[in-house]
Amino acid sequence: MKIGFLDSGLGGLTILKEAIRKFPNEYMCIADIKNSPYGLKDKKTVNQIVEQNVEYLVENDCRLIVIACNTATSVSIEYLRNKYQNRVIFIGTEPAVKPAVIYHKDKQVIVMATTLTLKEEKLEKLIDSLHAQDKMILMPMDALVGYAEKEEKINYLLAEQYIQAKLKEMDWKKIGSIVLGCTHFPIFKKEFEQYIPSHIEVIDSAEGVTNNMIRHALELGINEKDKNSIKIITTKEDKHFRDKALKILDIPEENVTFSKN
Ligand code: DGL
Repeated sequence: MKIGFLDSGLGGLTILKEAIRKFPNEYMCIADIKNSPYGLKDKKTVNQIVEQNVEYLVENDCRLIVIACNTATSVSIEYLRNKYQNRVIFIGTEPAVKPAVIYHKDKQVIVMATTLTLKEEKLEKLIDSLHAQDKMILMPMDALVGYAEKEEKINYLLAEQYIQAKLKEMDWKKIGSIVLGCTHFPIFKKEFEQYIPSHIEVIDSAEGVTNNMIRHALELGINEKDKNSIKIITTKEDKHFRDKALKILDIPEENVTFSKN
């Protein structure tokens, strides 16, 4: 049994990086660059694409699948859990709004995510359940996905300018934390740090998702291995993907194989 991962591209690797560090295992990760970005597509299209990718992982012996993408989780996780009940365990990635609201009670929370994640009912329900409607500043940041995926190299410079422009008018006294609700955004952690005052907490989902994954893996009898074996599958030929992926994962290349499905 392998552990499956799925995202529209490089974003899933920000979670996979934490998973391989904490829980060496056999991983199969789909980077669906053919269909990237998910965040600007409609719900029905994203659901169809996600279903196809999940089917591939299931056919390849993944019984525990991390949907390492906030957008895909918002749209498809309930559907997938219903469709594959008793056969596959799905770990979703949701914006970490809860800790942000709990730890910074009197302050506002900026939730950065894709347009589709911010529009989805799942986030609305989460915010409602915390009675935190008045505290939220919802900020679509879709362009960051393109700055990671589109060019030969990750375009840190354009990402930095975009982040600066988005945060220019911010009244920081009112803000307690920023939730990175898209798995691509931690790729630009350094760029964010330049424009976010140090007392603001920046929260991503990598640790929470990984801990959840490990708990379910152990329940399924998937134990920690001596070393990692990582297979990354792209859905389109892209000769630059490998270098960008290795940079994010920060591991020697002999530990990873790349192929196209
Ligand atoms: N990394 C994804 C997320 O967490 C999706 C980015 C995209 O394809 O728009 O939302």
